[in-house]
Amino acid sequence: MAGSLRFNHHFLTSLLITITITTLKSVHTATTTNTEFVKSSCKFTTYQKLCVTSLSTQSSLIQTSHKLMAHAALNITLASVKATSAMMVRLSSSQLKPREVSAMRDCVEELGDTLAELRKSIGEMGLLSGSNYEIYMSDIQTWVSAALTDENTCSDGFGGADMNGKVKDLVRGRILVIAHLTSNASALINHFAYIHG
Ligand SMILES: *[C@@H]1O[C@H](CO)[C@@H](O)[C@H](O)[C@H]1NC(C)=O
Ligand SMILES: *[C@@H]1O[C@H](CO)[C@@H](O)[C@H](O)[C@H]1NC(C)=O
Repeated sequence: MAGSLRFNHHFLTSLLITITITTLKSVHTATTTNTEFVKSSCKFTTYQKLCVTSLSTQSSLIQTSHKLMAHAALNITLASVKATSAMMVRLSSSQLKPREVSAMRDCVEELGDTLAELRKSIGEMGLLSGSNYEIYMSDIQTWVSAALTDENTCSDGFGGADMNGKVKDLVRGRILVIAHLTSNASALINHFAYIHG
């Protein structure tokens, strides 16, 4: 009786160890698969390195879904545009030349449009399904493309040779980052649309 209890105890212990090892292995495999998926999907974007660094942290959420990958890219772009817009609002209350004040005001407005376009895209990304897929996908592609245009318009506003070097460089540097994020998101959306057919 005692012997069989001990046997059972040993058996259970080794069974537990086996289960734990198997689970850890499959978690490890899933993590590697998810990370590989992000890397291979980023090959379709213009800014591959930025794509991998910004999206790798989301790989467990994305898993191997092209849709979630595009959705995550839009989320990251939205967060970055929000932060840039807040920075520009702060900058506009600093000492600027009238020309810069006016460019900054236009820019904040254009980034506001960008935010609205990204929010609408993210909203419809969550609604994409069988019957409405084509209409929503077309909306999303249009809005993301408009968001990129608005970002470029903002950057162009600071293009004049008469603009202060520091403010101009700061703004254009930040806009370049969000334009790259938007471009990547757009590529991932198009890739998802292509895969979906
Ligand atoms: C887009 O590409 C750039 C440049 O490689 C990269 O730094 C950035 O993280 C990427 N962003 C997204 C959202 O994929
Ligand atoms: C995108 O952001 C929303 C809202 O914060 C969140 O609920 C969702 O899980 C995110 N999706 C992805 C794929 O990152």
